[in-house]
Amino acid sequence: MFAIRLTPRPADDSTLVLAVGPAGADALPEPLAGEVTALLSSADDPARPGAVQLLPRPARQPARVLLAGIGAGDEAGWRAAGAAIIRTVRADEPVGIALGPDVPAEGLCGLAEGLWLGGYRFRDAPRGPRTAEVTIAVTGAHPYEQSLETARVTAAATWLARDLANMPASVKNPAWFAEQIVAAAATRPGLTATVREPAQLAAEGFGGILAVGGGSASPPRLLELSWRPESASRHVVLVGKGITFDTGGISIKTRDGMKLMKKDMSGAAAVVAATLGAADLGLGVRITALAPLAENAVSGSAYRPGDVITQYDGTTTESTNSDAEGRLVLADALAYAVAELRPDVVLDLATLTGANAVALGKRTAALYSYDDELAAALTAAGAAAGESMWRLPLPDDYREYLRSDIADRHSSPTRGAGSVVAALFLSEFLGDRRDRWAHLDMSAPSWAEQDDGDLSVGATGWGTRTLLRWLVSA
Ligand code: BES
Ligand code: MN
Ligand code: ZN
Repeated sequence: MFAIRLTPRPADDSTLVLAVGPAGADALPEPLAGEVTALLSSADDPARPGAVQLLPRPARQPARVLLAGIGAGDEAGWRAAGAAIIRTVRADEPVGIALGPDVPAEGLCGLAEGLWLGGYRFRDAPRGPRTAEVTIAVTGAHPYEQSLETARVTAAATWLARDLANMPASVKNPAWFAEQIVAAAATRPGLTATVREPAQLAAEGFGGILAVGGGSASPPRLLELSWRPESASRHVVLVGKGITFDTGGISIKTRDGMKLMKKDMSGAAAVVAATLGAADLGLGVRITALAPLAENAVSGSAYRPGDVITQYDGTTTESTNSDAEGRLVLADALAYAVAELRPDVVLDLATLTGANAVALGKRTAALYSYDDELAAALTAAGAAAGESMWRLPLPDDYREYLRSDIADRHSSPTRGAGSVVAALFLSEFLGDRRDRWAHLDMSAPSWAEQDDGDLSVGATGWGTRTLLRWLVSA
């Protein structure tokens, strides 16, 4: 990730960036003030978050002035401005952003997040990660260093989640994913990572993970990443779906439906990245991230439609569609969390159903919970972080759709609504923690088809930012 530094004043040789709010740009020395005022008066809504006006001043200092709209000047407005600025400047162009005296700390945090998130590029891209030289000029005494650090940790965690999801599945098999996180955990005190391999998964009864992972030449894993600060009184478990590629298995997907399925571990990426970020911020809450990792492949050893699987809690699931694999691996991890970890709160994040996008479009995750307070806190954290979710119901009268003639339940009912019945399926594994659980179906917002504000084309890292915000007060 490129560096952003705070300085007392902008360097002479950099492009000068000024924020434009409802009252125009901050007071400027002549002749700049006249030029800027003239440009702003002819521009169409220059304060709109993300709007950028360029003022070239050849042979003068500064040689370029960039006017960035911050809307009402709230965190979201500054974040949009940061993303627009980094997309407008060239990679080798030094940028000096001049902040007025009254910018709140959240504004600086949003600005830095926008710069870093909008400036993301996949680490293995042919051109390599983006370089940029950004300084932010601030005046007087200020609490900005802490805000910049929070933004740095949030952005770095999001970059990690994006890198993991963008990585081709030929590289990113379950063992590789687990190794990345074991290595990351080793660099930070207070973090531990353990990895279960198939023999241990079998000995402990993780039947869902083994069934789904059984068709692949790359065997499954269960990754458990734990952050345990001494002072912690609460324990949060975060479960993330980690299907490193989803062919659909024997109930194979269409070629179009399969194209992007390397991203089917985006939930796992978000929960491990947020846990590593929480450690970097030194948050005082105990966190266990669980990532059931498997490749849903097609082969002679793949599980079949009609198979009955014994899950971690000893109950059985009839699987008539091997493309409903995510809920099988999540069920094991959730049941294990409840039985062995006794958490205060359990969240799971999963690219679980195509129906998420049908219900809510490309940018919004579906949120499910029996806990109104938890649902409200997650929604608020998402709104503050710039990630949107919408709560959908868990109607008890749809539960009968899960009924099976030969097992305790059925994994892929054809009645009800796809995302809703998937959530109801998961709710069966929460035991006495059902009222302390939330599920986020994040299939749709996990991917951006093009650069869009703080999202760069490809994996979005959705959920990482929301989790970090929420964990601060969890
Ligand atoms: N990974 C997919 C869901 C998905 C689809 C995520 C599109 C992102 C974009 C999941 O494993 C799946 O295949 N779900 C099925 C469930 C069905 C078989 C009950 C679906 O949504 O069609
Ligand atoms: Mn599937
Ligand atoms: Zn899947």
